[in-house]
Amino acid sequence: MTILVTGGAGFIGANFVLDWIENVGEPVVNVDALTYAGNLRTLMSLDCDPRHIFVHGDICDGALLGSLMVRHKPRAVVHFAAESHVDRSIHGPAEFIRTNVTGTFSLLESARAYWQGLDAISKEKFRFHHVSTDEVYGSLLSGEPPFAETRVYEPNSPYSASKAASDHLVRAWHHTYGLPTTISNCSNNYGPYHFPEKLIPLMIINALAGKPLPVYGDGQQIRDWLYVADHCSAIRAVLAEGKVGEVYNVGGWNEKPNLDIVNTICALLDELRPDAAGSYSRLITYVQDRPGHDRRYAIDARKIERELGWRPAETFETGIHKTVRWYLDNQEWVDNVQSGAYRDWMAKNYADRTAPP
Ligand code: NAD
Ligand code: TYD
Repeated sequence: MTILVTGGAGFIGANFVLDWIENVGEPVVNVDALTYAGNLRTLMSLDCDPRHIFVHGDICDGALLGSLMVRHKPRAVVHFAAESHVDRSIHGPAEFIRTNVTGTFSLLESARAYWQGLDAISKEKFRFHHVSTDEVYGSLLSGEPPFAETRVYEPNSPYSASKAASDHLVRAWHHTYGLPTTISNCSNNYGPYHFPEKLIPLMIINALAGKPLPVYGDGQQIRDWLYVADHCSAIRAVLAEGKVGEVYNVGGWNEKPNLDIVNTICALLDELRPDAAGSYSRLITYVQDRPGHDRRYAIDARKIERELGWRPAETFETGIHKTVRWYLDNQEWVDNVQSGAYRDWMAKNYADRTAPP
C-alpha cells in the first residue's frame, strides 16, 4: 500500500508526510517541483527511510504522473501542490493558473486514467483527496455565520480564484467520470516549517532580527487559525472515513484579528527571548494594505466533527506557543530558507508599501 502526495516539500505537505509516516507508516511517493516554497531540509529526517520516495517533478507533467502511478500503484492521491501566497498571486498570477488550475487538471487526468485501469476492488477503494482553502468562499461580514460547505464560492484574489477553479475541476471529475474524490477546505494554518512569507513566521523571524513587523492596513482583518498537525489529522480522517464526492470544511474555531496575532507573538517572544531594547511590540509598523484584502474568514467545522469525529488537538494558545518555541529552536532551518529568492521577495513586496494615509 502506498499513497502519492503532491507538494510534500511545502509547509503543509511536508508536515503531512512526516505525520503520515509517523502515524500510519505507509509509504509515500512525494512529487514536488521544489519551487521557492519547497524545502527538502524539512524532510531530512526521512533521508534514509525507504517509506519516503521523493520525486522532483511538476504536476503539469502528465506523463510523469501517469508513469509514477503505474509504477507505485497508489491507493490514494493527496494533492497539496499549489502556489499558495496571496501577495505573490497579486504580483504574478500566471504561475497560480498554471500550477493550481492546469496542474490540478493534469493530476486529475492522470489519476482518472490510472483509476480506470484498476481492478474492481482497488477502484472502489481508491481516493483522490484535494486540499483546498476557505479563501474560495470570499470574505465574511462581521456577524455573518462562518463558512459551511454549502456556502457560495466568491473568491476575491488570483490565488483564491485559482483554488476555486481547482475545486470545481475536482467536483466535475467526480460528477462526470465517477473519480472517487474528496475535498477539504481549511482555514489558515500555522506551525513548524512555515515559509516566512506568511504572517506568523514572518513576524517571528522579523522580530528576532529586530526588523519592522509589517501590519497591513488597520490590522483588524480576521483569520481562523489552525495548527498544522490538526490539519494533517483532519486529512487522515477524511482519507479513512470521508464519503466520496463530499467536501469537508476544516477549522479550529479560532478567529483572531491580525493585530492580536502579532501582539501575541511579541508577548511570547518577550517571555521566551527578552530583548534588552524593550518589548518586540515596538517593531509593529502599519503598512499599506493588500489590494482586495479579504476582511474576515471563519470556518464552520461542524460537518467534519459530526460525521468523522475529528477535533483539533491544539488550542490557539498551545499551538502558537509550540510554534514560537519551534522557530527559536530551529534557527538553522530558518537560515536555510532565507535564500536569495526569499530576500528578493521581501524587497518586492515591502519596498513600495509606504505607511497607510
Ligand atoms: P506551500 O506554498 O508551502 O507549498 C507548496 C508546495 O507545492 C511546495 O513544496 C512547492 O514546491 C510545490 N509546488 C508548487 N508548484 C508545483 C508544481 N507545479 N508541481 C509540483 N509541486 C509544486 O503551500 P502550503 O501552505 O503547504 O499549502 C499546501 C496546500 O494547502 C495548498 O494547496 C494550499 O492551497 C492549501 N491550503 C493552505 C493553507 C495555509 O494556511 N497555508 C490553508 C488551507 C489550504
Ligand atoms: P497570510 O499569512 O499571507 O495568509 P492569507 O492572506 O492567505 O490569509 O496573511 C494572513 C493575514 O495577515 C492577512 O490578513 C494578511 C496579513 N498580513 C499582514 O498584515 N502583514 C504581512 O506582512 C503579511 C504577510 C500578512
